[in-house]
Amino acid sequence: MKILVATDKPFAKAATDSIRAIAEEAGYEVALVEKYGEKSKLLEAVADANALIIRSDVIDSEVIEAAKVLKIIVRAGAGYDNVDLAAATARNIVVMNTPGQNANAVAELVFGLLVFMVRNQYNGTSGSELKGKSIGIHAYGNVGRNVARIAKGFGMTVYAFDAYCPKEVIEADGTIAVDSAEELYEKSDIVSLHIPATAETKQSIGASLLGHMPEKGILINTARKEVINEPELIRFMQERPSFRYITDIAPDDKAGFAQFEGRYFATPKKMGAQTAEANINAGIAAARQIVAYFKEGCEKFRVNK
Ligand code: 3PG
Repeated sequence: MKILVATDKPFAKAATDSIRAIAEEAGYEVALVEKYGEKSKLLEAVADANALIIRSDVIDSEVIEAAKVLKIIVRAGAGYDNVDLAAATARNIVVMNTPGQNANAVAELVFGLLVFMVRNQYNGTSGSELKGKSIGIHAYGNVGRNVARIAKGFGMTVYAFDAYCPKEVIEADGTIAVDSAEELYEKSDIVSLHIPATAETKQSIGASLLGHMPEKGILINTARKEVINEPELIRFMQERPSFRYITDIAPDDKAGFAQFEGRYFATPKKMGAQTAEANINAGIAAARQIVAYFKEGCEKFRVNK
């Protein structure tokens, strides 16, 4: 049995060592393909893999077609919008994610980026503090929950809206649940996005929602670039000079955002889940899920049911 770990953005070494240890204990072989760059290398590597561990690597129908003996794909992370689920299902390939395993890392980065922005990107001028400000968490999943926990430590007022999470669950955390996205944006000095990229959410963050935010509002995106309506956000930032945007996923229209120097920042590479701890957690979970699937038929984290 061969497990291929194909990560264009490599895991920390401790994570790949852990994956190898779990696989070898189960009697499986591990192949590692990192920083492969070109798709042709991925196509070649998947040809004889029975299981595949990936991160944001794009697994489209061409990759699935090339993976002749593949039985399972585990996205070591939360979002699986990079996997063509229909193509996998058509080939009876199980697709799983590892929910929650990298959530703290992403949530910590939210605050790293926020402090950087409210301190004027460390340019020597007086900035502001997070204490006493309100933060609105848009979608209250694993990352959203961790953002709430940390925000309380900063002394912030924490609101959340999640169309799929009952208000009682949000409020059990001591977070204030609101009734709509509009209400969330109205009440929040800072909005932190944690929605997945789906047909429903793509391009959904634009002028009509952002217009509800107070002056000097900040939008922080550690979710997906696809949820942003970029032309509307650019226009909104032109019309509202106090508005700031921080993102961990560089936009498609990089040139369009370049005009907002000092109130726009994008990490050069998606860094949210890029910690040794998150890599180890997600890598170990992925390897264990593969072993549990082959040995016991366990499909607990399957996403293409
Ligand atoms: C996720 O969906 O888990 C995060 O976006 C992290 O993605 P990455 O593993 O490519 O850093």
